[in-house]
Formats: sequence, structure tokens, C-alpha cells
Amino acid sequence: MNPKLKDWRGQRVWIIGASSGIGAELARELIKRGAKLVLSARNAESLQLVAADADALVLPFDITHANEVLAARDEILAKWSGIDLVLVVAGTYQKMRADNFDLGAAKQLVETNLNGTLNCLNAVLPTLLAQGQGGIGIVASVAGLSGLPQALIYGPTKAALINLCESLYLDLRPQGIAVYLINPGFVATPLTAKNDFAMPALISAEVAAQEILRGIERGEFHIHFPRRFTNWLRLLRLLPYRLYFWLIHKVTGL
Ligand SMILES: NC(=O)c1ccc[n+]([C@@H]2O[C@H](COP(=O)([O-])OP(=O)(O)OC[C@H]3O[C@@H](n4cnc5c(N)ncnc54)[C@H](OP(=O)(O)O)[C@@H]3O)[C@@H](O)[C@H]2O)c1
Repeated sequence: MNPKLKDWRGQRVWIIGASSGIGAELARELIKRGAKLVLSARNAESLQLVAADADALVLPFDITHANEVLAARDEILAKWSGIDLVLVVAGTYQKMRADNFDLGAAKQLVETNLNGTLNCLNAVLPTLLAQGQGGIGIVASVAGLSGLPQALIYGPTKAALINLCESLYLDLRPQGIAVYLINPGFVATPLTAKNDFAMPALISAEVAAQEILRGIERGEFHIHFPRRFTNWLRLLRLLPYRLYFWLIHKVTGL
């Protein structure tokens, strides 16, 4: 559905959310594979640690500040004059159910996960469209596929990103631009470390990064993993609601 990629050497990749977890592992893996990287997130010190001795440009910013993302984009264009791939990995999670609804936390989730991604799009779309080549990958989550307990607001932010990627693909692919929808299952990172429940089919951030890069190399649009878990959730969303809600209650006990 997207062009295949055989060789990462020399590819100019901007990873947004590269200071920890999945984004940091993507950066480490891409450094090994010879890509040229720009690493962004808020924590400059962690980004430097991820870059280590590699020739990667570290541009820290907060994705909720549109002007900071634009300034970073300008710095990248001044250095590279183009971008081959943007990976929007940055995101945050807070467990929430209806009986502990917190408007401030809900708005923060929307601000980071959805509006932050829009700030990134605002910065890179003109460049990608002018180039008529390159790609953008957005990390959503299988929690966006259908409503789940504990994900009262996280889920809707990720559902919005899934829908956004679908529309982006329709708009951008005919213009020569690749779009990747990335839906991980459970990955062991600082984001999930606070979970107090058993996470089925949990994988490491290293494996998640490899799955993402393999999906891009194969030209997939929907990159989801581990499939032994994500395929079940994709199947569940097709069920009639009566059966879906019954199964979710039964399986999660929530
Ligand atoms: N772990 C999982 O099981 C799982 C499953 C499905 C989807 N995901 C998604 O995968 C993505 C990466 O998560 P992760 O598990 O790797 O978690 P993580 O280790 O907490 O990484 C989150 C990344 O996002 C960055 N970030 C957060 N808020 C930001 C902001 N306002 N501005 C700039 N950067 C920001 C963080 O950097 P700073 O704090 O330095 O800014 C960090 O680099 C997220 O979008 C998450 O929703 C994770």
C-alpha cells in the first residue's frame, strides 16, 4: 500500500517522541541501520543519551506548542533541505474510567495525543506535499480500535489518530507520500510501567521498534503488533455490540 523500502542508509528520519520507550528504540535501531536522524521530545538530556555518539541532531520541544514544532521543522530544512520520514511517536497515557473522570487530565490527553499530533502535521505537511515524496507514520494504539475499560479518554485520542491516518492515506498517497498507521499492543515502556494489571502479549520496546521498521520496509499501511494479540482485537471490533460488551466484561473482569 506504500512503496517498499530496501535500505535505511542515508534516509532522513525525524522521530518525534524519541527520548524513551518505543521512540528511543526506533532511534537506536535506525542509527545502527545508517539513517540520518533528528530526535525530538521534551527531555533534551534523554535525547542526547539516545543519540549517544551517533551523528544525530537533537531538537527538543513540546509537541503541544505549535510554534516550537515549526521552529524545529525550519532548523531541519536548513540542515537537510528535505525529510524522508516523520515518525510521530510522542504520546501519553492515563488510566481513567467514568467513575474517576478528571476533566483536566482528559484535556491533557487530548492536547498531547491528538492536538500535539496535529501540530506535527501542520509543520510537516507543506514540506511533504512540496517534495511529492517521503512519508509520515503516526503511533496510535489498538486501544483506539474500540472502547475499552480504563481507556476512557486515551482510547478516543487514539481512535481519532486511526481515523486521521485513514484520511491522510486517501489524501496523501495519490500525491506520492507514504502514510503509516502504527497500532501497538502492550509494550514494556515507562508508559505502561504504572499499569497494575497483567498485560497480555506484552513485548519489549526493541521488538516493537523492529516490527515498525519491518512494516515500513514492507510498505504496509496498518502496522500492528504483536499480531497474536492485535488480530483478536481487530476481530472483536467486528462483533455486534451485545456480544462485544459481554466478551470485554468477561475477559477483563471490568
Ligand atoms: N507502551 C505501550 O504499550 C503502547 C501501546 C500502544 C501505543 N503506545 C503509544 O506509543 C507511543 C510511545 O509510547 P511509549 O510506550 O514508548 O511511552 P514513553 O516511553 O512514555 O514515551 C513517550 C514519548 O513521548 C514523548 N512525549 C510525551 N509528551 C510529549 C510532549 N508534550 N512533547 C514532546 N514529546 C512528548 C516522551 O518524551 P518527553 O517526556 O521527553 O517529552 C517520550 O519520548 C505513545 O504514543 C503511546 O500512546 C504505547
